[in-house]
Amino acid sequence: MGWYTEHVLPRALDVSMRGAAFGRIRARVAAGLAGEVLEIGFGSGLNVPYYPASVSRVLAVDPAAAGRRLAARRIGRSQVPVQFAGLDASRLPAGDATVDHVLSTWTLCTVPDAGQALAEICRVLRPGGTLHFAEHGLAPDPAVARLQHRLTPVQRRLVGGCHLDRPVRELITAAGLKIGRLDMYYMSWPHALGYTYEGDASRP
Ligand SMILES: C[S@@+](CC[C@H](N)C(=O)[O-])C[C@H]1O[C@@H](n2cnc3c(N)ncnc32)[C@H](O)[C@@H]1O
Repeated sequence: MGWYTEHVLPRALDVSMRGAAFGRIRARVAAGLAGEVLEIGFGSGLNVPYYPASVSRVLAVDPAAAGRRLAARRIGRSQVPVQFAGLDASRLPAGDATVDHVLSTWTLCTVPDAGQALAEICRVLRPGGTLHFAEHGLAPDPAVARLQHRLTPVQRRLVGGCHLDRPVRELITAAGLKIGRLDMYYMSWPHALGYTYEGDASRP
């Protein structure tokens, strides 16, 4: 990990992703979490204030050490214990069918192999357990999608490997998860950056 990715980017994301619009989405996506929860792309812990009291523990997975430092105050103010458990969503630090829920917000865009991360999520979820997600990805409008394909190489360089054009719904279902709630909408302008998939999917 380079200096920019390790030090600058986590701080920039921490500031740019704390706004009210993000907060409303975080609150909706965290609702219903309970028991043993694994969060991929934990980042600077911006979801921590939204964990319901019904969560007994969060296993946090993220490669960025700077994010863990930025999260310390949020974790200190939370009733929910957070354990830093691993660095890579493609190799989750949990046994088969041991986790009640997985939480992923704006992370499947960045993990190098989203299909492998989702296969791991499917492996660690107990039957009936759910993935709660809010992700940006491929837009349905052909003109926006074309722009997303064109901009993705630049976005990957500037934002730590982030893809604008991942087909989130298809990736989730291809992993064997069954979509429950799914809302799809443009969160922001420019549209290429903000097409959002928000909802949950369960392990059959
Ligand atoms: C756009 S940030 C989102 C952070 C946080 N989920 C949020 O909602 O504020 C993407 C996060 O994915 C993390 N990430 C990158 N590669 C990863 C991997 N292989 N496994 C898990 N997390 C990863 C980054 O370090 C970063 O914290």
